[in-house]
Amino acid sequence: MKKIISVVGARPNFMKVAPIHFEFAKHKDIVNHLICHTGQHYDQNMSNVFFEELELPKPDFHLGVGSGSHAQQTAAIMVEFEKVLNREMPDLIIVVGDVNSTIACSLVARKMKIPVAHVEAGLRSFDRDMPEEINRILTDAISDYLFVSEPSGMENLKREGISDDRKYLVGNVMIDSLIRNLPKIENSSILKRFNITREQYILATLHRPINVDNKTSLTEILEILNKHAQNHKIIFPVHPRTKANFKNFDLEKIISQNLIVCDPIGYIDFISLIKNAALIITDSGGIQEESTFLKVQCLTLRENTERPITIELGTNHLIGTNIENIDRAISSVLNSQQIKEGTIPPLWDGKAAERICNKLIENI
Ligand code: UD1
Repeated sequence: MKKIISVVGARPNFMKVAPIHFEFAKHKDIVNHLICHTGQHYDQNMSNVFFEELELPKPDFHLGVGSGSHAQQTAAIMVEFEKVLNREMPDLIIVVGDVNSTIACSLVARKMKIPVAHVEAGLRSFDRDMPEEINRILTDAISDYLFVSEPSGMENLKREGISDDRKYLVGNVMIDSLIRNLPKIENSSILKRFNITREQYILATLHRPINVDNKTSLTEILEILNKHAQNHKIIFPVHPRTKANFKNFDLEKIISQNLIVCDPIGYIDFISLIKNAALIITDSGGIQEESTFLKVQCLTLRENTERPITIELGTNHLIGTNIENIDRAISSVLNSQQIKEGTIPPLWDGKAAERICNKLIENI
């Protein structure tokens, strides 16, 4: 019997590990698949709700690390994860995405000569000011199995000298989760609860430091959202980082009535909000992919994306952080001047986790 530990830490990790867990459950006789939660995200609505809705079992290990500076958070995860590995000595660990938990756990495991599989490997924004880009580059450099979601990832890894026998284009586990949960998503009553109708509202999310850690940028974005909220209700579930900055910069008072600022929303309801929106405004990574799969227009408020397939094939528009451009892009999509048809990227078919698990079972 082989033992594999998958690591989750922050909100975007849970829906990536869920399909892997369900796939290994089909091979219970040969693989004991365990889940370790670092505790990077810890609120009911940033963490627990995802376990409940995705039907994930309670984590086998909880490191309870919580917030802190990057160094504090990464170091605390490393110290606690080393204890788990010393006790459990798994045959392999799986890390997903690009958060601090991803690099912290892969670094510990690799130095203990425990093989590491990185799911969502190879993505590059080429912006080394993003903490996630550093996490991605370092994790890929030391991983033994690199599972890639889109062709650009394979090219990036080739350029970085990763040999062909370590990298595999397998598709997108986040889309596996979305497909698996579509029936529940169809049954969500979230539109009713917000008193909104299909394609009559905008969904906004913002949490990147470049947009929300600076008073001028955050104020300008809020003003633009207020302006467009006069014609379309805007639902804006707020990340804890952004919420803290609304307070720090004293911005709560400028939020208009039609700009509905609320707490983070659970997975099923949130995907339902994506699926039915007229337009999405975001700086998230995962939402660029989910909107492309659901063929909903998405404006990404960043200068770069590590997910270029969503621009090349999907419905994502990379519009940068210039406020006039954002304003113009919102109007162009809403009055149908700039609509992308969009096609679903290759291998985003709900079977990425199956490909990953088969490859690992063959090799460990
Ligand atoms: C992290 C990831 C980012 C990912 C995002 C998704 C890193 C470097 N960044 O950013 O890639 O897109 O998660 O959400 O790993 N907080 C709470 N409650 C929580 C979680 C966080 O209040 O449940 C607060 C923390 O106190 C902290 C802030 O939110 O001040 C940011 O949390 P942190 O884990 O540092 O990074 P994120 O901005 O969430």
